[in-house]
This record gives sequence, structure tokens and C-alpha cells, in this order.
Amino acid sequence: MIKVVDLKKNYGRVEALKSISFEVEKGSVFGFIGRNGAGKTTTMNILTGLIKFNDGKIIIKGKDFQENKQEVLKSIGYLPETPTFYDYMNAYEYLRFIGEIISYEGKNVSKLLEMVKLAKHKKKRIGAYSRGMKQRLALAAAFMGNPEILFLDEPASALDPEGRMEMLELIEGLKNEKITIFLSTHILNDAERVCNKICIIDEGKILLTENLSQLYKSYIQPIFDVEFEEDPTDKIDLLKKPEWVENIKENGRKISIYVKDLDYAKKEILKELSKLNTSVVSYQIRKSTLEDIFMRMVKQK
Ligand SMILES: Nc1ncnc2c1ncn2[C@@H]1O[C@H](COP(=O)(O)OP(=O)(O)O)[C@@H](O)[C@H]1O
Ligand SMILES: [Mg+2]
Repeated sequence: MIKVVDLKKNYGRVEALKSISFEVEKGSVFGFIGRNGAGKTTTMNILTGLIKFNDGKIIIKGKDFQENKQEVLKSIGYLPETPTFYDYMNAYEYLRFIGEIISYEGKNVSKLLEMVKLAKHKKKRIGAYSRGMKQRLALAAAFMGNPEILFLDEPASALDPEGRMEMLELIEGLKNEKITIFLSTHILNDAERVCNKICIIDEGKILLTENLSQLYKSYIQPIFDVEFEEDPTDKIDLLKKPEWVENIKENGRKISIYVKDLDYAKKEILKELSKLNTSVVSYQIRKSTLEDIFMRMVKQK
């Protein structure tokens, strides 16, 4: 659906995108994840035709984006990072207004408002909306032109837990609409919940692109979470000695031991812990989360 090849973008001397390539399959939810400043918004602004790029090739729906921009843009909806509204309008007026701009008759504004759970509030001034409501209205606006591809730039990142939950539920609902969703976020839990493919971008470079299920398979690195009765900091170095220990992350009385060889670690870990001569409150094995994988990838570089 989208193919990006060796895309480069500079802002003056800042190299925001250093030759990135990736592919987004039709009907998938593509999770574009990275820390602040990684290049997510820049990429999305390019793919939605808002800004130009310096080099590379973009193919959307089998067509060269640059040569068929106007046509391609008709099948794209965009929820930008910070959507802006006219505060004096209400939600209904706003969507009608957007509909007129894009001269699109097809979508039923009332249905859209129901979809984003704003039907009750459609006569309320947008200025009086909560952040979550505004974000849902922006989603409805992005959906207005019946897009085949929807770009969502950190749609839930600035919301409170309840707003985030509502937004993620809406996005999950969109999966059934058979549209392709390109979603950026720096919240890995959100990506883990709604995306089926993950692309990690860091400092303008792609570190990895992989289906989420495959990612878990290839990066299964078991982790032992151990909790002590007292802060174990001064004794941790002892634990770093064994060959099968890759890394240890400390967090107060809790530590996470990343191991290289699970079978070996399972046999040895209690022996090693007993050498510390300190009380263990709990210990358990867990699989890597996307957060663990992300931290390893970003640190490795
Ligand atoms: N308009 C701009 N002018 C100059 N530098 C910019 C501009 N927009 C973004 N940048 C820089 O480009 C890099 C990528 O930014 P951005 O795409 O916004 O990252 P993200 O959305 O992942 O947080 C950052 O170093 C940022 O400071
Ligand atoms: Mg951004």
C-alpha cells in the first residue's frame, strides 16, 4: 500500500530523515514508533503531502507519489499531532465545513459523530471540548473523505488514561473498516495493543521493521524479575559475573536480569541469588515486552 525507499529529509543542516525505507501492507495497522525527535511527524507530513522531501522514492497504491500527488491524496486521511479547530463552531458545523472543503458528500456527519462518540455533544462549542473530545473530532475529520489510508500522529499520546483508552478502542474498531492505518506513537503499550507491524525509528534511521508476532519470536529474551527485601545495589556486581547474564536493570528493591541462556539461567539463578546473602521477596520469569525490545534496540546502536 505504501512503499518508501531511501527517503531523505533535511531541515537546513538538520538531517531529520537519513535515508529510510519501509513498506506498509494493505489493511494493516502499521506502528511507527520512536522517541521524541526521531522523525515520525516529519515522515508523516511528507507522506500526506504537507512538506517536501530531499531525496528518495514514495509509492502509494502502486503510484509514484510525487507524480500523482493530487490523486493519491484523495485516498488519504490525516490526524495531525496537534489538530486545530475553530473554537466557535460545534462538532457538527465543523465536520460539515470540512466536508465542504474537501467537497465530499458521501459521509454522513451524524454517523461519524456517533462513531467517535460525540453525537451527544454535537451542539457544544468545540472550545469547550476536552482534549480527548477534540482528538476524537479530529479523527472524524480525518475519516471524512472515506480514506483508504489513515495517518494518525500520536493520536493518544497527550490524553489522560481514560481518553487514551477511548481513542485506542476507536482505532481498534477501525480495523474492521478494512483501511490501512499508519500510526505513530512513543507509547509502546499503545503500539503493542493495536498494531500488527512495528517499525522502530531513531534519530532519523529505521532500526527494525517486523510483524509484532514475529518480533516476539525473534526477540524472545526471557527476563527474571527479582524483588529483594532491601535495596541490593551494593551487591549487584556479583550478579553480573556469570556468563549467562546479559544485563541487569535496577529499580530500587527490584531488579530485572536479562539472560542469554534460559535453560542454564533457570538452573543457576537461585544459586547466584543465595550468594548475595540477602532476602528475596519474589522472583519470576517473564517474556520481553515491546518496551524491552525497544530499549535494547535503541541502546545497541
Ligand atoms: N520545521 C522544522 N525545522 C527544523 N527542524 C525540525 C523541524 N521539524 C522537525 N525538526 C527536527 O527534525 C527532527 C525530527 O522531528 P519530528 O519529525 O518532529 O520527530 P518526532 O515526530 O518523531 O518527535 C528533530 O530533530 C526535530 O528537531
Ligand atoms: Mg511528532
